[in-house]
Amino acid sequence: MTTKGSKLIAVVVLAMSASCGTGRSARRGGLPNEEVAKLPPAIASAYRLFAQKCSRCHTLARPLTADIDDASHWGRYVERMRRQRGSGISPADAAKILTFLEYYSARRLEKERKEARP
Ligand code: HEC
Repeated sequence: MTTKGSKLIAVVVLAMSASCGTGRSARRGGLPNEEVAKLPPAIASAYRLFAQKCSRCHTLARPLTADIDDASHWGRYVERMRRQRGSGISPADAAKILTFLEYYSARRLEKERKEARP
């Protein structure tokens, strides 16, 4: 990556961490509260952990819009994120976060497939 590119990323990350902690998770690219309210309780609790842990370095839109619906694929991703320096994600956190990601992405892709059908 070019120096200019990494500087840009540094600026974006700084801007994101400055806004971190303020406002609802929807502002960090997360789900609107109405949608969180519709989740089964265990998944909603996993979502809250996800919103807290996975929004530190990028917006939640990044995982929420990722084209991943395969459980083992998500497992590799979450493990990769967990290993980022200073991620603050424990193996137990990762397991819980995975339950939300699998639930959410399977449903989202299923919905998209239905909408794509004539
Ligand atoms: C310590 C910082 C950090 C944390 C915490 C973090 N990420 Fe990331 N994430 C990154 C960086 C850096 C990248 C871009 C580089 C890469 O793809 O490895 C990234 C990229 C991604 C991508 C896109 C990868 C692609 O190929 O487009 C996804 C999806 C993602 N993260 C999901 C998550 C999830 C889910 C969590 C919570 C379990 C999380 N991240 C937590 C730093 C982090």
